[in-house]
Amino acid sequence: PHRGFNLISGIHFPEVVDKIQNFDIRDSDVFVITYPKSGTIWLQQILSLIEVKGDVTATYDQQNSERFPWMELLDSQKRFDSAPSPRTRVSHLAYKFMPLGLKQKKGKVIYVARNPKDVLVSYFHFHNYANMLETPKDFDSFFEKFMEGNVYGNCWFEHVNSWYSHKDEMNFLYITYEEMIKDLRSVVEKITSFLGKNLTSQQLNDVVEHSLFKNMKNNPQANYKDVPAIMLNHQLGEYLRKGTIGDWKNYFTVAQNERFDEVYQQKMKDIPLSFIWD
Ligand code: PPS
Repeated sequence: PHRGFNLISGIHFPEVVDKIQNFDIRDSDVFVITYPKSGTIWLQQILSLIEVKGDVTATYDQQNSERFPWMELLDSQKRFDSAPSPRTRVSHLAYKFMPLGLKQKKGKVIYVARNPKDVLVSYFHFHNYANMLETPKDFDSFFEKFMEGNVYGNCWFEHVNSWYSHKDEMNFLYITYEEMIKDLRSVVEKITSFLGKNLTSQQLNDVVEHSLFKNMKNNPQANYKDVPAIMLNHQLGEYLRKGTIGDWKNYFTVAQNERFDEVYQQKMKDIPLSFIWD
């Protein structure tokens, strides 16, 4: 861990992560912040499409992870200062690593949260096919690891708490994965207006259409078909796995669920978040 936060060795470097705080932030910068497996790639696709007013063919020239890179990757930082506006970056980092400029209300932050039970299940699968992560022995051992926060992203509860409790310092939009599943069009409208963009009704429909799970899964730019093998074993799995809510019910035992609920109540008591749990 670096400053109490787990990084992925060989992928993240402490000296790189520490520089982020002093990034010079422009008003036009947008940061998508998520705990892993909460909808990062989905947001990358939605933002790519909003940028080109729904014309998916205009996104084919580049993979979304290239267009909107991870802030914590070495490569992304080299290009940050000189990149033209608007710069959009994604990150799973804890609040304490964030650029200080955000607190002066420079730039914009979109935080995406997902029902942590589904996050856990999605992350379990990802650990089985991401080459950069240790393969869990079984679901039960991963459950423990997640509850201890012994994964990249650390403890889910702390991640959401730390960002959400500081939201008033920043230009901050909070959205959930579940809202996107239930009514993607409304969320796309919310994001569009938060970014100060104007799209026609048809353009909004196009953004929604090309952000649907089935369409993203078949779109190599959106489904990260080109990420290097160090990150993903392409034979074993894909970034777009199942894309549903409530998959946790297929994995949690009754005892695990009760324990999870108890921890949730205790850790989230000061934060007024509600999730669609199934
Ligand atoms: S990562 O690797 O942490 O950046 O992953 P992240 O993108 O945050 O989360 C991956 C999960 O998001 C699902 N996903 C979607 N669900 C529904 N609709 C769309 N369009 C969509 N795009 C991505 C993806 O399938 C992963 O969830 P699971 O439950 O594993 O399928």
